[in-house]
Amino acid sequence: MAYVGSQDAVPIVLEGLQRLEYRGYDSAGLAVLGRGGALKVRKAKGRVRECAEGLPARFKGPVGIGHTRWATHGEPSDANAHPHVSGTVAVVHNGVIENAEELRAKLEAQGVEFSSETDSEVLAHLIATSGAGDLAEAVRSSLTQVVGTYGIAVIDAARPGECVVARNGSPVVLGLGDREMYAASDVAALVGHTRQVVHLDDGELAVLTASGYRTFTLEATATVKQPSQLEGEAQAYEMGGHAHFMAKEISEQPEVVRRALRGRLDGRFHTAHLGGLNLEAREARAIRRVKIIGCGTAYYSGQVGAQLIEELARIPADAEPASEFRYRNPVVEPDTLYVAVSQSGETYDTLAAVQELRRKGGRVLGLVNVVGSAIARACDGGIYLHAGPEVSVASTKTFTATGVAFALLALYLGRIRDLSPAEGARVAAGLRALPEQIEQVLAQQEHIARVARELAEHRAAFFIGRVRGFPVAREGAQKLKEISYLHAEAYPASELKHGPLALIDPGLPTVAVLPDDELRDKNLTTLGEIAARRGRTIVVAHSPVPGVPPQDVILVPRNEPELDPILMTVPLQLLAYHAALTLGHDIDRPRNLAKSVTVE
Ligand code: F6R
Repeated sequence: MAYVGSQDAVPIVLEGLQRLEYRGYDSAGLAVLGRGGALKVRKAKGRVRECAEGLPARFKGPVGIGHTRWATHGEPSDANAHPHVSGTVAVVHNGVIENAEELRAKLEAQGVEFSSETDSEVLAHLIATSGAGDLAEAVRSSLTQVVGTYGIAVIDAARPGECVVARNGSPVVLGLGDREMYAASDVAALVGHTRQVVHLDDGELAVLTASGYRTFTLEATATVKQPSQLEGEAQAYEMGGHAHFMAKEISEQPEVVRRALRGRLDGRFHTAHLGGLNLEAREARAIRRVKIIGCGTAYYSGQVGAQLIEELARIPADAEPASEFRYRNPVVEPDTLYVAVSQSGETYDTLAAVQELRRKGGRVLGLVNVVGSAIARACDGGIYLHAGPEVSVASTKTFTATGVAFALLALYLGRIRDLSPAEGARVAAGLRALPEQIEQVLAQQEHIARVARELAEHRAAFFIGRVRGFPVAREGAQKLKEISYLHAEAYPASELKHGPLALIDPGLPTVAVLPDDELRDKNLTTLGEIAARRGRTIVVAHSPVPGVPPQDVILVPRNEPELDPILMTVPLQLLAYHAALTLGHDIDRPRNLAKSVTVE
């Protein structure tokens, strides 16, 4: 977070950091330039709140930068917290400097002393020792020596009144105020101050002063930026009476689905209108395969998407973690449609995969939540999720919104190929029914909380599902792991007997996804195998389950079978939430995690 203007930067930077804390929260710090140009720095291991405690009254000034950290190089500690200082220069950095060791050795040979273990500190020393006449040039010339990713903000007591920011692989957004300028790694920190923003591109820098900004490239060529208008209300970033952002975001899902569907269903031709695809019907008919990439929850929602596309459009489709895809030199085919899924639109592994695909001529659609984000901009076209800001580290509403977006894509692709109007109408009706059905699931919160309290007494759980149910099981296990720290493992129900059944005993509960679909009998057989080993099951189902007591069954309304994964994930989100609540964890800020993984 950075500020240049005439107000005191300290409260502005601190408030911005609090809004950004979900992106990293193991240490925090800030630096300000006082009116006389003196550099003041406060940084500490822990939360922004702790760092802000007891700041002296004279710790203020009209120019400031701040940072919350998610450790990559060097453990969380006061010394490793940002800003890093060299002489009169202070730097905050997101990202990873890959040639930090080499640069550090060079600087040490020149007599520079380091005070932290971070890769980021080299930036401060490079800039401070660059010998350039102005700060912009000092930063630019230093960055030409750097290999890696960065979003940085730099101030210099020797050159007060300005702040230089730069981006390569890690987001930086400028906020344009009235005789004041802001910058942040996420618009969440800017919404309270301005609606006018400018997204920096990779390899771009900006100099901010109270009167404005200028942008230029690493090659020192000036660039012209078109400011864009921020959508949505500032309250969207507030908790609004909920105990946690996760609870709020789970509860928003009916409205999220309504928004994702708004204006996109065609009642006449029983298809979907997706204005941003940039794909002619002729081109869409020529697609022979769909490959979906994303990380974590985005990947699991991609698995849901692959099944929807295969079932409704009959195009072979599969999903793969973007983090794996990018490292295996995949064969890029001209008649494959690539789809990148990302809530933040900034996940570095997904972005790098998209860039590699584009380099090799692949056509990539983005299913992205954050408008104007790097992945959204790097794709040929796509579908915005319109889920609103997701602040909780554990993703919930964007999983649901992505499922809906994939259903729309599958409906569209199906209807220009082989899907009948009647089938199209059936799927569209199912989609329209989802918001109310999610409300019915949310209404069972008390029952789910009771189940969760018992689940939380165990140290581990299995999650199982067959075919459509398997990505649901994976996402359910992911949620439980992330926020309750219980070991959770997802298996296709069909695979249980091929090994993991050995682990089943009364101490290891199994959460089973059991839709009333064509595979129900097979799933019931698996539940029987678990019961025979005295294993306990918690079942998400459409109807009562023989042999499982009603208090262990969470019932969800019936929809169309293809849409089951969307609805059946919601109770698993609540299950994880209430288990974590029972265990007293910091639900919105789970240990070791951060919301946007903008490093490799
Ligand atoms: C899970 C979670 C992560 C993210 C993953 C991708 O709750 O939040 O697994 O889903 O890091 O992030 P995005 O969607 O921003 O690309």
